[in-house]
Amino acid sequence: MVKIAPSLLSADFGRLREEIDEVTAAGADLLHLDVMDGHFVPNLTFGPFIVEAIRKLTDLPLDCHLMIEDPLTYGPQFAKAGADIVTFHVEVEGDPARTFDAIEAAGARAGMVVNPGTDPLALKPWLPRCAMVLVMSVWPGFAGQKFIPEVLEKIPVLKDALGYAGDIEIDGGIAPQTAGAAKAAGANVLVAGSAVFKAKDRAAAIRAIRQA
Ligand code: DX5
Ligand code: ZN
Repeated sequence: MVKIAPSLLSADFGRLREEIDEVTAAGADLLHLDVMDGHFVPNLTFGPFIVEAIRKLTDLPLDCHLMIEDPLTYGPQFAKAGADIVTFHVEVEGDPARTFDAIEAAGARAGMVVNPGTDPLALKPWLPRCAMVLVMSVWPGFAGQKFIPEVLEKIPVLKDALGYAGDIEIDGGIAPQTAGAAKAAGANVLVAGSAVFKAKDRAAAIRAIRQA
């Protein structure tokens, strides 16, 4: 059974508690939190302080997607703020081994993210450490972009060629029209921002994505 992770990037932050309660009642399995630093991506969102506030509003697992240049410094801060899983990009320069160590020592599971233009083989050395691999199906930075179907070819590479057996999450442009292909390719965690939060009936939107 696939898991659905609404991305709060498309929620109304002026009524965050109600938005979280609504998607929880609508059947969300986890909440996807998009953290952007204005360097790795040309957009800024929020830091650990907001994640700490969100932690108090929900019992759902918090899935923190770090689109930032320095996950080694900040990853553990998101873990301490209450993230259950913290993912960071393979494209970031740095020391992934230390980053995994630091996030895990701070109490979260850790995983890696791969951009549309990156060869999935770049993940190979780190797969044994990944609690989840996040395959981007848009270029990160903004909600509401068009799904890039070619990225789905990475999933069989991860599973069959590289033997990865953990969770595979897909993020960007997921809607009832695109979710079926993502599931068929082998993704089992589907992030959806606009398709859930811009829908009048969130339960129907989540159901349609799950059943696609
Ligand atoms: C993009 C983010 C996504 C985004 C998805 O940088 O990583 O999580 O919120 O939004 P939709 O589902 O609208 O493409
Ligand atoms: Zn994301």
